[in-house]
Formats: sequence, C-alpha cells, structure tokens
Amino acid sequence: MVTFGSTVNGTPVKIDVEGSESAVDVIRGQLGLTGTKLVCAGGVCGACTVTIDGEPAASCLTPATALRDAEVTTVEGLATDDELHPVQRAFLAHDALQCGFCTPGFVVDAVSFVDRWRSAHGDTEPDRHTIADALAGHLCRCGAYEGIHRAVAAACRGEHDDPAAESSAQRIDGRAKVTGQAVYTADLHLDVALEAVIVRSPVGAATVGPLPGDAGDHVVDLLGEHREATWAGQPLAAVAAPTLAEAQRIAAELPLTITPKPFVTDPDAAKAAGAPEVHPDKAARSAAPNAAEGTSLPGRWNGNVRSQLGGGLLGPLARRRIDKARAAGDDRLVELTVGSGVQLHTSFEPHCAVADWTDPEHLRVWTSTQAADDTRRHLAERYGLEAEQVSVTADFVGGGFGSKLTPTADMLAAIELSRSTGRPVRCVLDRREELTATGNRPGSSTDVAILVDDEGRNRAMAVHGQAHAGSAINGFYAALATMMYGRSPRAISDADVVTNTPPGSPFRGPGGPTAAWALESAVDQLAHQLGRDPIDLRLTMDGNRKRHALYRWAQGLEVWKGRGPVAADDGRYRRGVGAAAANWLYMVDPDTEVRVSIEGGGRLTAITATQDPGTGSKTLLANAVASVFDVDPIDVDVHLGVATGETPHGPTSGGSRASVSVYSTAVEAAEALKEQVGAHPTAEHDGMAASATRGGDRGIRPVPVTLPVGIQIGRGFSGALHVSEVEVDTLTGKIRVLTVHAGLAVGRIHAPAQARNQCEGSVIQGIGLALYEQQVIDPHTGLTLTSNLEDYRIPQLGDTPEITVHFHTEGWDHVPGGGVGLGEVATVSPAASVGNAVFHATGWRPTQLPIRPDRVLEGLR
Ligand code: FES
Repeated sequence: MVTFGSTVNGTPVKIDVEGSESAVDVIRGQLGLTGTKLVCAGGVCGACTVTIDGEPAASCLTPATALRDAEVTTVEGLATDDELHPVQRAFLAHDALQCGFCTPGFVVDAVSFVDRWRSAHGDTEPDRHTIADALAGHLCRCGAYEGIHRAVAAACRGEHDDPAAESSAQRIDGRAKVTGQAVYTADLHLDVALEAVIVRSPVGAATVGPLPGDAGDHVVDLLGEHREATWAGQPLAAVAAPTLAEAQRIAAELPLTITPKPFVTDPDAAKAAGAPEVHPDKAARSAAPNAAEGTSLPGRWNGNVRSQLGGGLLGPLARRRIDKARAAGDDRLVELTVGSGVQLHTSFEPHCAVADWTDPEHLRVWTSTQAADDTRRHLAERYGLEAEQVSVTADFVGGGFGSKLTPTADMLAAIELSRSTGRPVRCVLDRREELTATGNRPGSSTDVAILVDDEGRNRAMAVHGQAHAGSAINGFYAALATMMYGRSPRAISDADVVTNTPPGSPFRGPGGPTAAWALESAVDQLAHQLGRDPIDLRLTMDGNRKRHALYRWAQGLEVWKGRGPVAADDGRYRRGVGAAAANWLYMVDPDTEVRVSIEGGGRLTAITATQDPGTGSKTLLANAVASVFDVDPIDVDVHLGVATGETPHGPTSGGSRASVSVYSTAVEAAEALKEQVGAHPTAEHDGMAASATRGGDRGIRPVPVTLPVGIQIGRGFSGALHVSEVEVDTLTGKIRVLTVHAGLAVGRIHAPAQARNQCEGSVIQGIGLALYEQQVIDPHTGLTLTSNLEDYRIPQLGDTPEITVHFHTEGWDHVPGGGVGLGEVATVSPAASVGNAVFHATGWRPTQLPIRPDRVLEGLR
C-alpha cells in the first residue's frame, strides 16, 4: 500500500493505493466522486475523463499513482460556488445530452477545449471538424452529438458566459447530469453490500452439471432445471463476496461441471444438413429465449429453422402474380435479397442492480431499467410476494434502447444472492458482458418482391424474412410489411434461424429497421427500374395521408430538388441522395396514473412510477403540469423512477408509449388540482392533490398475439421519412453521411428539445446500423469478438451529419394530447435511406448491412 497526497477539485486529499488500481477506481470508489463514469474501461469512450494538472486524461487508463501530488479536476469541480461553467450552461441550453451517462466526460474535455480555443481565437466559432477532432476521444450511445456540436460552438462564441442564462435549460434533470450530481444505479455503494459476479458459459454449447452441494450461500444457480447452455456467455451461476476481486476469484474457481457439445454460430451453417441442433427437443424448444416483447407466435420447427405460422392476406394470389411477372420479364416487378448484421445495444450505463432482501417481507431493488413498475410486478410474481412488498428504484438510467425491459441476469443474481446471504448485494456488468450478453437487434436475410401496375400502384408483395436472433426465437419482422403500401395481396412469412450465439431482444423499433431495409431498398430499386422519382412513386404506392405530408415536405427540400440522375458523378468522391419511409404502431399504457400535488411550501409536484432513460420523460411531465399552471417547468418537482406500493402506476419506456401515456394524464391531473387550489398554489395548499388515469382510446387495434401487460395498440400509424445525403469514396470504400433530413408525423410535440434530440439520436443509431455496427462471433469458440468499444464500432462525433428535424403535427386529434411517441418510428428508416443514397451516388445497390468499405469496393468492381 502506498499513501500520497493530491488536490482534487481544489481540496487536498490523501489517497491509498494498494495494487494496480486505476485513477477512475480511486476517484469513484475511495473519493466517492461518481460523476466520473466508467463505460469502456479501455480508453475509447472518454466517459471517465478528468483533468490532471490541467490536461484531460482517460482515468481508466491512468494508474492511480499518477495522481500523486497532482491537481485533479473532475466534473464535480467545474462549477464554482454553485455557478456553472459556461460549457455546462451551453450543454443545458442546447440539450446536448440524453441519458447523461457520457456527459461528464464530454463536459470536462469540452471545458478544456473551449478555454484553449477562446484564448487562441477569441470568441469565434470553430468549424464542425475542429470540434469533432477535439472531442474525438468521446462516444455517446444516445447519439446526442448534434446538441454537443451546437453547445460547444456556442460556448466558443462566448454565448453562455452570463450566469443568468442558465434559466434556458431545456431538460429539468440536465443540471444534475452536467455537474455529475446525477446518481445512477452503477454509482450506488451501499456500505454493507456484497459484490456479485456472474459465472458464464465459456463455450457455445454445453451440458452443465448442478451446483456442488457444498457451494454455500454465497453461490446461486441461474440456469434452472434445463441444464443446457446454448451460447457462450450464458449466465450459469452467480457468486458474491465482500470485494469484486474476491468474487471474481471464487467465480473462476467454481467447480461447475461443463461438458462441451458441438455448436454452430453461422446461420447458413445452421441450416445445412447435419448441423448441430441448438434446440433439439421439445423441452429445449420451449426453453428457447424470446427475442420479442409479447408471447411467442406459433411456429413449426425443422432443424434450426422455426417458421412462424400465418402469413399475409391472399398470399397465393400474390405469389401467382409475382411468378407470372417474373416469367414475363416485367420491369414493374422488383425482387431483392438483402441482409443485415447483428446490432448491439451497448447502453453506456451497464446492466446493474443492487438488491436488499434482508427483510424477508420487503424486497428492495435499485436497478438500471426501462420498466420500474413492470419490474416490480414481475419480481412479485416470480418470488410469490405481494406487489406492495417489492420496491424498484431507477432514479437515473444510463440508456436502455430496449435491452432493459425485463428483469435481467444481473438483477436476478443480486436478488437471489441477497436472499441467500441475508446481505444487500450489488451486481454491475462490465463492458465485455454488456456487449455479449444483454441482447441485440437480430441480423436478417430477406427476400422481397413488389409488383406494381402502370401507374405504380401496388399489385402484389412478397416478403420472406429469416431472423438471426442467436439462440432466441420470435425475431420476426417481415410481418411489419403487411402494414405499409396499401392493401394489395401479399405473401408474408417469418422464420428464425437459431444458432449458438447470444439471444436477440427488443431493440428500439424491434424489426422496424430490418423490415425497412428490405422494403425501402426494393421501392427505391423499383423507382429506378420505372424511371420514377422515388418519392413520387411512394406518393402513388402509399395511402397514408400523414406520410403524404412528409413526402410533399421532402420534395421541397433543396437537397432533393437538386438530386440528379443515379451515378451522375464519375470522380473518386461521389455524392448521392436517398430517401426511405417508416411506419409504426401507436401504443399506449391505459393504466398510467399521475398524481399532482402541492408540497414543501407551495411547490407543484408530479409523481408516477415511470422512468427516464434519456428520453426526456421527466421534462415532459414537468411541461405538462407547467402548461396548466403557466409556470416554468423547472419549478415543477417531478418524482419518477421509484415504484412502490404507494406510487401511481407508470408506463414502461418501451414501445414508444411513455410520453403518450403520461402527458395528457398529467395535464388532466393538473387541471383537476387547479380546480381545487386555483391558478397560484401557495404553502397553504400543501398536501392537496389530484390524480388522473390515462384510460384507453376508442378504436383499439386488435392483434393476433397476447401483448404484455400495459400495452394497447391504438388507432393510426405514426410515420417518418428520412432523406440522407452521402459521399462515397470509391478509392477507399468509405462512406460519409453529410446531411440527414428527418420528417416525423407523430402529432403535437410536448417537449420539443427532447423530441428533436431523440430524432437526431435515431439518425445516429441508424448510421451505426448502416455503416459500422456488427457483432462478430468466433466460430471456433462461440465467443463474442466484438466485446469492447474498439472492436464494436459505434458512430462518433466526427461521423455526425448535419441533421434537421421536421415535425408534421396534424392527424392525431383522436388521441388525448394530440400526439404519439416517436422514439421508435424515428429509428426505422435512417439506415435504408443511407443505403438508397449510396445507390444514387454509385449505381451499385448495397444489399448487406453494414455497408463496410470492403463491401463497397467489392460492389463497385
Ligand atoms: Fe451520451 Fe446517453 S447521453 S450515452
């Protein structure tokens, strides 16, 4: 052990270093400064950035001993006397954050850059490339890059020097995020908690023996009765110990009998005769993980292929028409086969939980979840408790994107170990686990055919989708093609090709980007064959009036009007513009309840058991109450992220249903309270409250599957249209997305800055899917090779195009509040629009995502 002094945020501290701790371990653990985040642990993402003697440094790569006699500044040290640094104010004013988990690192580095820039260049604005270069060591999974660009540019211009400007904050919990005060589950340290580690399958398939009888109360089983592991990384057991290092040692030595079996990781190999069967019998098939949110659709197994029963309307007629057109060489028929890779969620706050079941009558869980109240219900059911005996807290949530909808292995490990040890237990996944074992957007292979008549009206459509959801089933997406482009006869079929790889799960707009990649590529190709403008053809094919408004908007864009013929350039760099449209269901949680009250000396207070994983739910709720009382949203106290027997039911942040469930309900509750207390509540009204429940809409859409509790599908489809402009470097195969115009038909917008931010983030995630992101599995071991943020490439600040967002706000008057959710529809079509832009630039039709440089060069040969 060595002990030395250091000055942290202006205060002298003494630091003890025992072994090989890194600076971030000391800063977060010993000093308790949890504003500094740990995400990649490899110096790639920048979340752990602090300054050491004035220089920004990745504290995960910095040995703790480097802090000796140093001046260290963390995000907590940037504000002086409660007055924010101008960069922090700029981040608030430009809503340069969503979940906020990457924000401290960005802010610390941006402060250094802005100070340097202004002393060298005065109050001038750097160009986008300079900002991107300066902050190239940072990543944001939410994709808040456009706001970050705007904030840094504005701070350089000196626009946020006035402390009074802080009132322009766009997000009510933004101050906590830019100052490092926001405490996420991963930041929690209960003094008495044990640390848990999950023991995982080291091979692609194995039979796993039972836990040894004398394993003790610090070891629990996570596999259950079916003792077959079907993917490398699958949780088998969990161990707890007073320190993480001790838990890791016990986990490594756990005498678990693992008998490896043959396995298969490639979908094509899995379909071949003689391939090892992933789920060989009835018991295994019924234990297969579910990649979807709802119940399983019926299916028929043939080896590793599970075909879903059902299909589109008039399938045989559609096929006859398509076969006839093919035989006749009819150019009104387009047929394509396209594929996509597996995309990983990689939320920046890892999956994590702290469980305290020391009181047998009360299970308390803190966790990073998108579904606090639903998790409470699940846990009560699972452990035979009354719902009131379970509480779930998710105060700040560092992203989820669909991977945190249901209780996950970290949570169950912490709970089971807390029960067996009688101690609180904490389980936090590391980045390798996060990139391996927390779900993914399934890959795909799709055959699509569309036949139109002379005017371009749809006459027949056939879509056959094969989902690559690892060992999971229900990765279906072709079914989404039944809901777009009119009512022509169509043959629609979905199948899963299972492999011994990590199971898929819902990922923002489940199936949507995959279906759009096939459908929108085909429509674009059809327009080319027919010599039609692709948007003009969509105006003919698509009967959706809200999307028509978006098509008209896009036709007026300069970038679209100036779009020349396909492959007009012949130089090294070729520019192209492509469009793709999106369709999505409108969902709502009718049981949502909001209580608005007067507390603490006349303060308006709103509460519901939903959560804010970066989507802006807190701000939306504040805006709703503020709109009724005509006050600043910052003056409304919002309590989210706590689900107990006392809290009003709140919706899951999934299925784009949180905002549409919460906003109008909060307005109704606030109006009821205003009836009681008048327009200007005071301390005299403390304790007065009113509640409202959302209720369903008229015309709920019936669906052929059992939906999870808390979802109804309402009337009407939301729509989107993305127009992307790209530049293809034909020498290197690299593609740059230059501009994206995003049009959204989702009705009225109640939190404009957050809505725009969500749409921009969707574009960024779509660019990741289109160009970079792809899980890679080692076929020999079954292990995930893309298990760190260097090997799994997500978009960076420098990959960010200029993004404009347009909202078409009409068409949702039948919905309380006049608008619906947008988090999913906004993410459906960006990737396809990039693919269509590449075709326009080069005349080569990309058919496989991601559109990697090697694929571009191969295609252009
Ligand atoms: Fe950047 Fe969520 S705001 S990771």
